[in-house]
Amino acid sequence: MPKLKVITFGCQANELDSARIAGLLAHEGYSLTEDDGEADLIILNGCSIREKAEQKLYSRLGALQVMKLRQPGVRLGVAGCLAQREGDALLRRFPHLDLVVGNGEHLAEISQLLRREHGRPVAATAEPVGLFPSNLDVHRDSRFRAWVGIMEGCDNFCAFCVVPLTRGRERSRPPDEVVREIVALRDRGYREITLLGQTVNSYGAKLEPRVSFAALLRRIDAEVGTAMRVRFTTSHPKDVTPDLAEAMRTLPSVCPHIHLPVQSGSTRTLARMERTYTREAYLDRVRLLTTFVPGLAITTDIIVGFPGESDEDFLETLSLMREVRFDGSFAFKFSPRAGTPASDFTDQVPESEKVTRLAKVLALQDEISLERNRALIGHQVEVLVDRELSKRDSGLAAGRTRQNKIVHFGGDAVEEGTLATPKITEATPHHLKGVLIASS
Ligand code: SAH
Ligand code: SF4
Ligand code: F3S
Repeated sequence: MPKLKVITFGCQANELDSARIAGLLAHEGYSLTEDDGEADLIILNGCSIREKAEQKLYSRLGALQVMKLRQPGVRLGVAGCLAQREGDALLRRFPHLDLVVGNGEHLAEISQLLRREHGRPVAATAEPVGLFPSNLDVHRDSRFRAWVGIMEGCDNFCAFCVVPLTRGRERSRPPDEVVREIVALRDRGYREITLLGQTVNSYGAKLEPRVSFAALLRRIDAEVGTAMRVRFTTSHPKDVTPDLAEAMRTLPSVCPHIHLPVQSGSTRTLARMERTYTREAYLDRVRLLTTFVPGLAITTDIIVGFPGESDEDFLETLSLMREVRFDGSFAFKFSPRAGTPASDFTDQVPESEKVTRLAKVLALQDEISLERNRALIGHQVEVLVDRELSKRDSGLAAGRTRQNKIVHFGGDAVEEGTLATPKITEATPHHLKGVLIASS
């Protein structure tokens, strides 16, 4: 039986694509391995969002090319956003590469491309216009939580971002297909799903008839009720509506957590980023959500050192963080990406300044996260037990709360994929500690 190794370099959508590749190739007889030396086919599923992500893939690919000199039978492929962006230039740069496939419907072409025996290396990276076919199996490495792709692509063209160039135009899966996949997961005992899209809450805008994201959540909730937790990511502030806030408040399956990237707290910088909202509009959306949804956790993404970001602009980001009091954030130094408007802006911020600003954001976030987590001490919370979150050899079980916070807790051995109720006893910025009160 041939062996496949898939290496994921990107976001959750990239991870889902890896699971799609593995599922598809399982039908071709491939079984998964973690071991480079044992693999007959190694696919690097690449990400282009920042330069660092690309560099990581290139250095890994360089090492694998050397390995291939010793093991000429192994085939090497690059997939995903990086493949989509670089196309057949990758074949020229890496002479030992056998296969380059982008994303969307291209992933489904992999088996056919591999069958071209003794064929020359191939690249399938025309702009993706379709979706990964819903009748093909996805490899699920967990028995209790799963990603569910509901839309692909992005039409927003933020000035810093390559995603519209790598994932093509925004397109949504029909709601019946989405619901069918989720019902099948429910029937197999899955306890948690995360709906995925580049701007997941923009779902359905182009469907005929139009279906809103809130309407999709209602349809899903009607099927899964309390049997499953429903999460979604990533949300764009422009499509946070009262209807979405109402759905999050009333639907028992929907978890009280939203990942709502703000990028900057300065209206001037937001305008140059072409984010389409102001600082005030963002804060209004946050107020709408927190007013409707009790116990809502909000996380965000922040870019520091966007071209032209002055000290005052940066201070506005820090003040917005203090105002919202995010539960957590991912912060990034601006990375110029060829082909995006911001890479040509002439007022680039020096690297040393980016480093200083990033450190300030991280320090402030730790302070706020700690405060927010400390407020949970003494509370009983429901977690979905997940072995992957346990620290090795700690002897503690772990799980995520409905607010998406990680809790490590002692007590009786609890089974993965079940719900448990620890009482919180300690808090750090990044996780909580507790003692087990009940499990089911
Ligand atoms: N679709 C999501 C974001 C996807 S990319 C949204 O619109 O919010 C994930 C995060 O990477 C972004 O939120 C942004 O903070 C960061 N990012 C994207 N392009 C970047 C760049 N060129 N440099 C640094 N960070 C970037
Ligand atoms: Fe990128 Fe903006 Fe689209 Fe998000 S909304 S994927 S940041 S272009
Ligand atoms: Fe990277 Fe593509 Fe995701 S560029 S962040 S893998 S959408």
